[in-house]
Amino acid sequence: MFLGQLVSEPAMAANTAERTDIVLVSGSPMVRQSVTEALDANGRFMLGTSCATLEDLQVVLRRTPKDLVLVDIDPDPSGMLAGIETMSRTFPQTRFLVLAKEFRSDLAVEAMQAGVRHFLVKNLIASELASALKRLMPEVSGSSARGRVVSFLSASGGAGATTLAINLAHELGLLAGDPSLLIDLDAHYGAVATYLGLRGQFGVADVLSRHGDIDAQLIRTTAQTFSDQVHVLISPATTDVFAAAGVSYARLEETLRAAAHAYKHVVVDGPRIPMGAVAGLVAASDIALLVFQLTVKDITMVRRYLTALADRGVSEQRVILLANRYRKRRTMIALKEASDALDGRSIISLENDYPNAVGCINYGRLLASFAPRSPLRRGLKELADKIFSMQPRQTLLHGTTG
Ligand SMILES: Nc1ncnc2c1ncn2[C@@H]1O[C@H](COP(=O)(O)OP(=O)(O)OP(=O)(O)O)[C@@H](O)[C@H]1O
Ligand SMILES: [Mg+2]
Repeated sequence: MFLGQLVSEPAMAANTAERTDIVLVSGSPMVRQSVTEALDANGRFMLGTSCATLEDLQVVLRRTPKDLVLVDIDPDPSGMLAGIETMSRTFPQTRFLVLAKEFRSDLAVEAMQAGVRHFLVKNLIASELASALKRLMPEVSGSSARGRVVSFLSASGGAGATTLAINLAHELGLLAGDPSLLIDLDAHYGAVATYLGLRGQFGVADVLSRHGDIDAQLIRTTAQTFSDQVHVLISPATTDVFAAAGVSYARLEETLRAAAHAYKHVVVDGPRIPMGAVAGLVAASDIALLVFQLTVKDITMVRRYLTALADRGVSEQRVILLANRYRKRRTMIALKEASDALDGRSIISLENDYPNAVGCINYGRLLASFAPRSPLRRGLKELADKIFSMQPRQTLLHGTTG
C-alpha cells in the first residue's frame, strides 16, 4: 500500500498557526473522531497527522520530527508497545502517549518500560487527553532554571520525617504559588500515599528503574497531583511494582536533577535507604534535614550518620540537624547538651505538638488547614520561609540552636 492511502493530512484550519500538531496512530475511525473532538474543544492542540500503523508513523517521523504522538495500542497492546519501544529509541525527542480500552497494570508497566509517557483509557479521551498533552509539552526556554531539593533523613524510626516532609512540601508550594514535588523513597512502607489517601500504579521506583532518559517531563507525568501545592511520586512500597529490596538507587541523583528542573521545590522523604544512596541524596540536595528526637539512642544514631557521610566524602555543611518533638520543659536532654554531644553542631528544633501532628494524619489533612496556628505549623512555616529565601545551592541555617 502507498503511504498516501495510510496517512492522511487533514486540511489545516486558518487559525491553527499556534496550535501544536499531534500525530495519531490508530486504525479506528471512532478513536480518530474522539481525539479530534477532544483536541478541537481544547483549542491548543490539533490532530495534524493520522497514521494507521507504526510503520507509517516511522515514515512520518523520518520526514518531519514530531514532539507528541498518540498511539492506540488495541487490539494488540503488547505488540504495539514493543514497536513503540523501538521507535522511542530511534526518535528520542518524540513523546509517546498510548490509548487503550482498559487500564491493566501489567500493560502500564510495559508501557513505562517502552518509553511511553502517559497511558490513557479511551473513555477518558474527552476529559483528560488535552491536560495530559499539556503536561507533556516540551520545555520552553528557561529550562535551565533549577528548583531546590530538600531531603529528610531520619536518625531512627518514628522521629517525624514523613509528617514534616509532607507539610513542608505544602508550605513551600504555598510560598511559591507553584506545586512542590514530594518524593517518597521509603521502600518499606509508603506512608506518604497512606497519609494523603493516594493510590496509583506509578511512582518513584518506575523512574529509578527506567532504561531511557530521565527528564523533567517524565517526572511530571509520573507524579500524582494531591493538591495545587503538592504533587507526589509515591513510594515503591505503595506501587508494589518492585519488591522493596529490588529498588536500585543508582539513578537517584539523576532523578533528583530532573525533578528540580520540573518543580521549584522538591522535598524527599528518605528513610531507611542504604548509606550509599543517602550520600547521593545529600549530594544532590540543597539541604538535608536529619530528623531525630532528643534521646540518647537518636543522638548516638545522628553521630553514626554523620560519620558514615563523612566517610563517603559528603560535606556535612548541607546536613541540618533537626530535633523534632522538642519539649522545652520536663525534658531529659536539652538542646545544648545534644549539641555538645555532637561536637557543638547547631541544631534546629520543632516543638512537640502531638494532638495536631496525629490529628492531621488521622484526618488525612495538612497542618496548614487542620491546625493553622499550631506550634508545629508555625515552626514549619518559619523553616519553609528560610528555605524559600535561600538561593539554590546556598548553604543555610547555621546557629539556630535553641
Ligand atoms: N512535632 C511533632 N510533635 C508530636 N508528634 C509528632 C511530631 N512530628 C511527628 N509526630 C508524630 O510522630 C509519629 C511518627 O511520625 P512520622 O510517621 O512522620 O515519622 P517517620 O519518621 O516518618 O516514621 P517512620 O520511621 O515510620 O517513617 C506520628 O504519630 C506523628 O504524628
Ligand atoms: Mg516515615
